[in-house]
Amino acid sequence: MRFAGSAHVFRQDVADGERGQDMSETIVTGAPPLARPTETTSATLEVRRLVTDFRTESGTLRAVNEVSFRLDRGRVLAVIGESGSGKSAMLRSILGIQPKSAIVTGEVLLGGRDLLRLSPKERAATRGRDVSMVFQDPLTALDPVYTVEQQLVETVRTHAEVSRSTARRRALELLELVQIPSPAERLSAYPSELSGGMRQRVVIAMAVAGSPKVLLADEPTTALDVTVQARILRLFRELQQAQDMDMMIVTHDLAVAADIADDVAVMYAGRIVEAGPIGTVLRAPSHPYTQGLVEANVRPGQRIRPRAIPGAPPSLARLPPGCSFAPRCDVATVACWQELPEPVAVGPGRWSRCLHSTPSGPVESPHVA
Ligand SMILES: Nc1ncnc2c1ncn2[C@@H]1O[C@H](COP(=O)(O)OP(=O)(O)OP(=O)(O)O)[C@@H](O)[C@H]1O
Ligand code: SF4
Ligand SMILES: [Mg+2]
Repeated sequence: MRFAGSAHVFRQDVADGERGQDMSETIVTGAPPLARPTETTSATLEVRRLVTDFRTESGTLRAVNEVSFRLDRGRVLAVIGESGSGKSAMLRSILGIQPKSAIVTGEVLLGGRDLLRLSPKERAATRGRDVSMVFQDPLTALDPVYTVEQQLVETVRTHAEVSRSTARRRALELLELVQIPSPAERLSAYPSELSGGMRQRVVIAMAVAGSPKVLLADEPTTALDVTVQARILRLFRELQQAQDMDMMIVTHDLAVAADIADDVAVMYAGRIVEAGPIGTVLRAPSHPYTQGLVEANVRPGQRIRPRAIPGAPPSLARLPPGCSFAPRCDVATVACWQELPEPVAVGPGRWSRCLHSTPSGPVESPHVA
């Protein structure tokens, strides 16, 4: 992501959610508004100071910690980071599907509205139509007792008041859109009769049935075998362009991220710690955590043994006062344990949240105070 003309990720970061749970009582409170976003932006989705806290038996856990970013039209943003860094939590807070134990604050601005300030009914109406999500496991996203046609027709009719026959035609179009072979035959199939790749295509068809402005994808290919993964990723990219959607994709896999995305946001302990155009960030990471992720990544044909980042992420219920990465960072100094790093520009459209990054100029975002 860049600060001028693309998906923008700037200071502060957040995350979390749980599919299928009752979200009607998710506590949503709004933070005081920041300065108005610039009206000239072509951003569709703008997230500001998003925080997601979970009340747990051992205290409150901050899974998403003041995350802010902006997605611009036609760009794909990849979100990477170790397990537990808050990637899914962030997506689920954006979609509004957190469990009752979650407290979500901040702003999720889409088409001039703050989704966090909508009533539960209004919010539900935005799902699938404004923001839609593809989950990791296509099996759990589909109901085994209904055919593909029944599920697609139902989804189409949730978004538009159309007759069954119109919805059926649309269901067929959607299967064609996601490039399912012999789509007319697949309509009458049950999910168990389809391969994993085909099931995920059906799930994607359902996700785009309401022509959403933003498509979120949470590890959408990890349950699939490698050859199918590449095809599904290509489909995402094609759909994003054909349907003119903004897209965020969460993945552990840096190769997947590099393949599909324009920009990347690196999450650690609930915050975005580095962001920028994906090619330059992964080629020359600035933040020590991103450097660790890149070194830990296995590349095809690589001879050098990948080096895992030592230690483990901190407890989100007891974050250290300074940089959250300090306990694991090879180059940490005393200041790192005391001072929370602010974003520092480290190149065109890039920033890093590290006290020892060398600034390359001002952070190019009108939203960074
Ligand atoms: N419903 C919940 N209640 C309590 N804690 C939760 C809940 N959902 C997520 N968390 C916690 O929030 C933190 C962030 O979880 P999240 O699922 O967002 O991580 P992630 O980055 O998506 O990890 P992964 O790569 O493993 O999917 C974790 O510590 C997790 O245990
Ligand atoms: S602020 Fe300090 S501890 Fe944190 S990443 Fe930078 S050098 Fe490491
Ligand atoms: Mg996750």
